[in-house]
Amino acid sequence: MQSPTVSIPNHVPAHLVRDIQFETLPGATDDPHKALRQLRDYPELFYAPRGHIGRGVWIPTRSRIIREAFQDAARFSSHQNAGFSAMFGEAWPLIPLEIDPPEHIKWRVLLNPLFTPAGVQKMEGKVRARTVDLIEKVRGNGGCEFQKEFGGPFPISIFMELVGLPMDLFDAFLSMEDGLLRGDAQTQAQCARDIRDFMVEFINERSRHPQDDLASFIVNSQLDGRPLTMDEKQGILFLLFVAGLDTVASALGFLFRELALDQTLQTRVRTQPEARANLIEEILRARTGIASGRCATRDMEFYGVQIKKGDRFALSTTLANLDEEEFGDPLDIDLDRQVNRHIAFAVGPHRCLGSHLARRELRIALDEWLERVPQFRVKDGERPKCSSGPVLGVTYLPLVWGS
Ligand code: HEM
Repeated sequence: MQSPTVSIPNHVPAHLVRDIQFETLPGATDDPHKALRQLRDYPELFYAPRGHIGRGVWIPTRSRIIREAFQDAARFSSHQNAGFSAMFGEAWPLIPLEIDPPEHIKWRVLLNPLFTPAGVQKMEGKVRARTVDLIEKVRGNGGCEFQKEFGGPFPISIFMELVGLPMDLFDAFLSMEDGLLRGDAQTQAQCARDIRDFMVEFINERSRHPQDDLASFIVNSQLDGRPLTMDEKQGILFLLFVAGLDTVASALGFLFRELALDQTLQTRVRTQPEARANLIEEILRARTGIASGRCATRDMEFYGVQIKKGDRFALSTTLANLDEEEFGDPLDIDLDRQVNRHIAFAVGPHRCLGSHLARRELRIALDEWLERVPQFRVKDGERPKCSSGPVLGVTYLPLVWGS
């Protein structure tokens, strides 16, 4: 399994090394969940020398171990977990994702009220209006490439509405997001810098002319009785930008891929709206997935393995949610599943701040599509394409509907 060119730290035993990369798992283009689930045949904790964005990482393959690491920020730090500012030589953290407890809780206390169910309810009208706008653009065409025309643009436009950005910047944001998440190293660094510069300009603008939006809320917020620094303000806005885009686009892509491939399922949720909430939970459980970075804060023994301070981990929500010790027939979408304690939104202190918003976005998109577009399927002679990391996603989904 082991490639001769990769470097493996001395303390990593050879029998625990498997040279896989999340981004290039065999078979992932067709079925990334099946591809990833095969890692379950590996040891319960193994080392991949270039497993996560080219870095060496420990990968736990069992739900109980993944949950434990997510919950234990004292041993598994999120500091510089994503490292966007480091891409262009700076060191400000994404807030609250790259802040460890106890400091972390102060940020959640500040931001949580914006994303409670009641907070999200206030955004409902705007989310629905954007959904309908995007659907109406393709409805009369008899088909579309779903990810390009809906899955990708939809969460970006919601982010822009939420923060208060003018919609005429939509194309610029779409292209910066694409470069940041899918470009080569140089493009990523340039896009990260562009997004930061843009956020700073926008923060300054909202300081001069506050409005009723999230950017103005952040500009006027205080922590420990002092105003936020520019690094902190940009760290929050940058995170909200990256956290809610690919994740929602991916969940939408997998939701509509499933419905397009399984006509019986589609008919059932068309005729039984009460089954839609369960469908969304099953898609979140069995069809989404993120590999989250963590770093060991000390030397320790973890599940019988010697870990050194500074060792990196990749915690895969997919592997946790497809663990058959917790979920029978884990790859099946089962609308009648009775217990569904999935961790698509993680567990522990960094559990997703935007989970209520994400669920609302998915439900509104599902309801409005089923209401406005007749039975759809994958275009004849075509196959959807997917990608496997670090956020699992759908890259190509050609749909057709009507006669
Ligand atoms: C289906 C969609 C989504 C999924 C599957 C998802 C998943 C996750 C996961 C797994 C984490 C934990 C990351 C870690 O611990 O390393 C997380 C954190 C976070 N998510 Fe989401 N997310 C989604 C949508 C959103 C949306 C729409 C927003 C906001 C607008 C958002 C904002 C955040 C933030 C701010 C954090 C960091 C929380 C903290 O560090 O305390 N997410 N998300």
